[in-house]
Amino acid sequence: MIAHVVYRQEIHAEVGGIIPEWASREHEVKLPLAVQQVLKEGQTSWRDLEAIAAAQGPGLIGSLLIGSTYARALAAAWQRPFIGVHHLEAHVASLELQGKPLAYPLIVLVATGGHTHLFQVLHPLHFQLIGRTRDDAVGEAFDKVAASLGLPYPGGPAIEKLSQMGDPYAFSFPLPQTPHPWDFSFSGLKTAFIYARQKHPNLPVEDLCASWQHTVALYLVDKLIKAAQTLGVPRVGLVGGVAANLYLRQLLQTKAEAEGYEVFLAPLSYCMDNAAMIAVAAWHKYINGAYTSLTEAPFAR
Ligand code: KG4
Ligand code: ZN
Repeated sequence: MIAHVVYRQEIHAEVGGIIPEWASREHEVKLPLAVQQVLKEGQTSWRDLEAIAAAQGPGLIGSLLIGSTYARALAAAWQRPFIGVHHLEAHVASLELQGKPLAYPLIVLVATGGHTHLFQVLHPLHFQLIGRTRDDAVGEAFDKVAASLGLPYPGGPAIEKLSQMGDPYAFSFPLPQTPHPWDFSFSGLKTAFIYARQKHPNLPVEDLCASWQHTVALYLVDKLIKAAQTLGVPRVGLVGGVAANLYLRQLLQTKAEAEGYEVFLAPLSYCMDNAAMIAVAAWHKYINGAYTSLTEAPFAR
């Protein structure tokens, strides 16, 4: 990697969630500056670039429109191919930023604020969706649980921090059931936390958070390992913002390795949305000549 710039939008922290309109406006202001900065840090010129890539979706449409339109305009002006990348495929590609070469097939859990998807990945460009959340995404559940405690957005890191001081076995939450074994459901777990807090006001909040985080981690890890077992795939991966959770990483590593699976984790600094993972996914498409038309619009879902 030559250079990498991440601009985090802090304005959402106070209101406890992302305001799409604000996110788009911040994108519009910060994106040209980030492009300038990354070229400067890389001591390179646009003339050295072979292609321009951007996320095409799924995600917040306002932000996607700004990123994709800006990238397509640069591609047109600089006469380079444009490569539109699928947001979740890019999260999977973040596994390649950990140094160890990736092997296929593998079962990957994409755990973000908007998605909780299980993919069987057969090749860098060949994905099969095998399971998904039926309601809230796991990151969204972390954010809502945090908001119920008055903690700032994003809620995941705040819950993780409280949990480090609590007992993960203090309280037991029921595991959600779904019709399909590899699907997920988080809305009941989130509500169970809020009820438990109201019903047991004397239970230390650290214990409640640690127990809730433990249940969520166990639920994710068990499904990931079971899917790999059923499909006879010897390796598993974990990516997305929620993959930054150290308790979840540790639990997956311990359980999956004990059962003989090879474990791939997105590096901590590439779990949350970032441009490096977009570039890795785009590179696979670029070397396969899979360019995107300059008229192709981004998509929300
Ligand atoms: O991948 P990401 O940056 O954006 C989406 O594509 O949605 O994921 C953001 C999500 C947020 O819901 C945030 O609370 C969660 O990832 N997250 C965490 C942690 N760090 C970020 N969840 C649990 N534990 C963490 N340490
Ligand atoms: Zn993401």
